[in-house]
Amino acid sequence: MKLIKAVINPYKLDSVRESLSELGDFGLTVSEVKGYGRQKGQHEIYRGAEYEISFVPKVSLEIAIADEMVDRVVALIVEQAKTGKIGDGKIFILPLEEVIRIRTSETGDDAL
Ligand SMILES: Nc1ncnc2c1ncn2[C@@H]1O[C@H](COP(=O)(O)OP(=O)(O)OP(=O)(O)O)[C@@H](O)[C@H]1O
Ligand SMILES: [Mg+2]
Repeated sequence: MKLIKAVINPYKLDSVRESLSELGDFGLTVSEVKGYGRQKGQHEIYRGAEYEISFVPKVSLEIAIADEMVDRVVALIVEQAKTGKIGDGKIFILPLEEVIRIRTSETGDDAL
């Protein structure tokens, strides 16, 4: 299993989420975050205005998935979130040791 953490532009959330739901029945955690990449937040446009402060609002998605789904989920996020401009975001893929569904005590792939 892997934990995919994707930091994307907030206005891309809906299209990413819709495409993900077509791919499968997995859960998703969304957080409003702020951050910066290698431009340190300079020269990024958000809602028509250039942000003068260092941190730019982003949305962070966390998706726990089976290994065989990783490539498809990553390709989908890239396809939906990409504009080709700076600040499009970044995807982090982390090994995921265990998942437990609290209601049933199922573990591993069965708990996803
Ligand atoms: N190395 C990093 N570690 C943690 N978070 C990061 C890192 N790089 C980017 N992020 C997060 O991802 C968001 C989007 O980053 P961004 O797309 O600007 O990356 P970048 O490396 O500067 O790429 P680009 O040149 O396309 O802008 C940042 O606002 C930040 O929240
Ligand atoms: Mg950047």
